[in-house]
Amino acid sequence: MGDSQYQIGVIGLGTAARMMLPAIAAHRGMALAAVADPVQEVRESVGAQWGVPSFESIEALVAMQHLDAVYIATPTEMHAQHTCIAVQAGLHVLCEKPMAAHLEDAQTMVVAAARAQRVLMIGHSRSYDAPIHKMREIIESGALGRVRMVTQLSYTDWIYRPRRPDELDPARGGGITYRQGAHQFDVIRLLAGGLATQVNATTFDFDPARPATGAHTVVIRFADGAIGNAIYNGYGAFLSAELSDDVDEGGFAADPAAIGARRRAFGSVRGGEQRDETVAKRERAARMHRGQPPFHPSFGLTLVSCEKGDMRQSRNGISVYTAGGREDIALPIPPGPQDMVVSEFHDALSGLRAPVHDGRWGLANLEVCVAATESARNGKEVALTRQVAVPMPR
Ligand SMILES: NC(=O)c1ccc[n+]([C@@H]2O[C@H](COP(=O)([O-])OP(=O)(O)OC[C@H]3O[C@@H](n4cnc5c(N)ncnc54)[C@H](O)[C@@H]3O)[C@@H](O)[C@H]2O)c1
Repeated sequence: MGDSQYQIGVIGLGTAARMMLPAIAAHRGMALAAVADPVQEVRESVGAQWGVPSFESIEALVAMQHLDAVYIATPTEMHAQHTCIAVQAGLHVLCEKPMAAHLEDAQTMVVAAARAQRVLMIGHSRSYDAPIHKMREIIESGALGRVRMVTQLSYTDWIYRPRRPDELDPARGGGITYRQGAHQFDVIRLLAGGLATQVNATTFDFDPARPATGAHTVVIRFADGAIGNAIYNGYGAFLSAELSDDVDEGGFAADPAAIGARRRAFGSVRGGEQRDETVAKRERAARMHRGQPPFHPSFGLTLVSCEKGDMRQSRNGISVYTAGGREDIALPIPPGPQDMVVSEFHDALSGLRAPVHDGRWGLANLEVCVAATESARNGKEVALTRQVAVPMPR
C-alpha cells in the first residue's frame, strides 16, 4: 500500500502552487499528471516546465482518466466550490489554507468529502515545519510537563507584497488574520493540543492607502488552561527575522532591501514605480521556488513554555531551556516545508497514517480566524465550538 504512486492534478498555478509543485514532483509516491489555470500563458508555461498537459478549468482537469487526487491552490473563496467538484469526481483533495472564507463553506467541504469517502487535507501551514514537529514530539514525551504558553510572533511585509483585491478583504478570506493567522493558529493549536475554547483579539489597519487587516494580537485559551498568543504585524518596518537568526520564511537569508522596495511600490510610502499588482504577483510566483534552503524556514519567533522549561525554533532546529541549561538540537533540513505536506497526503491516501491536517482540523483552524475577526469587531471574547484535539501518535 505504502508504495502506491498517485496521479495528482494541480489547480491554480500561483504563489502557493509554485512552491508545492517541486514537492509533488519529488515524492516517489506521487506523479504530477496535469495542471489547470484560466490564464493561458500561466498554464502553458507551467505545463511545459513540468511536461504535463494543462487545462483551462477544473472541470476539464477532473475529467482526465486515471487521476487520483488534486491539490487546490486557487483563491480562498473558490476552495469550497473546487473541493466539491473534485470529490464528486471521485478525487482526493489537498487544499490550501485558509480552508475557506466562511465556516459554512468549510463545513460543506468536510461533508462533501465524507459523503464521497475521499481524503480532504488542508495544507501547507507552518505547523509542518520540522522544528515544530520536534517540539510536538518533546511535548508528547512529557519530558517538559504540560504546555502552558505558546507565543508566535511574526513581523513581515505581507501587506506590501503584490496582492489581488480579495487577499486584503476579510469577507473574502483575506488580510493578516485569515491568511497569516491561519499559519500561527495552526502552529499554536498543534503545540497546545488543539482544543482551543475561546479567542480574544484586536486587529489593526495602519495604512489608509492600503486598507486591510494588517496586524493583530490574538489570545487563544485552551481547555487545559494553556494560552496561545499570536502577534502579527505585516507592515514591513521591523522584521522578526532579526529575532530568529536573520532567516526568512523560506529558510534563506532575509533581505530587508527588497521589503523597502515593496513598501514603496504598493503602500502609502510613495516614490517608487507604481506597478500592476497582478503582473507583479505572477512574476513573484514564478520566482517562488528557490531550491534547497540552507536553514529551517523561520516564521518569526515560536516560543513554547512548559512547566519544566521553554523551547524555541532556531535556524538549525530547536533550542530547549531547562534548569539544566540550554540544549541546541540540530534537525536535518528538508528540501522544503511542502515536502512534509505531500508526505502526509501520500500517507493518508495509502492508508498508512491518518492526517493531522484533515478537513475537521482545517475547519477548527478557520474557526479561530473567524472568531478573532469577530472578537476584534465586537470587543468581546468569542467561544469556540468546533475544535478538535491533536490525534495521539500510534
Ligand atoms: N501555504 C502557503 O504558504 C501559502 C502561500 C501563498 C498562498 N497560499 C494560499 O493559496 C491560495 C492561492 O493563493 P496564491 O497567493 O497562490 O494566489 P495566486 O493569485 O498567486 O494564485 C492563484 C491562481 O489561481 C488561478 N485561478 C483563479 N481562478 C481559477 C479557477 N477558477 N480555476 C483554476 N485556477 C484559477 C489564478 O489564475 C492564479 O494563477 C490561497 O488560498 C492562499 O491563502 C498559501
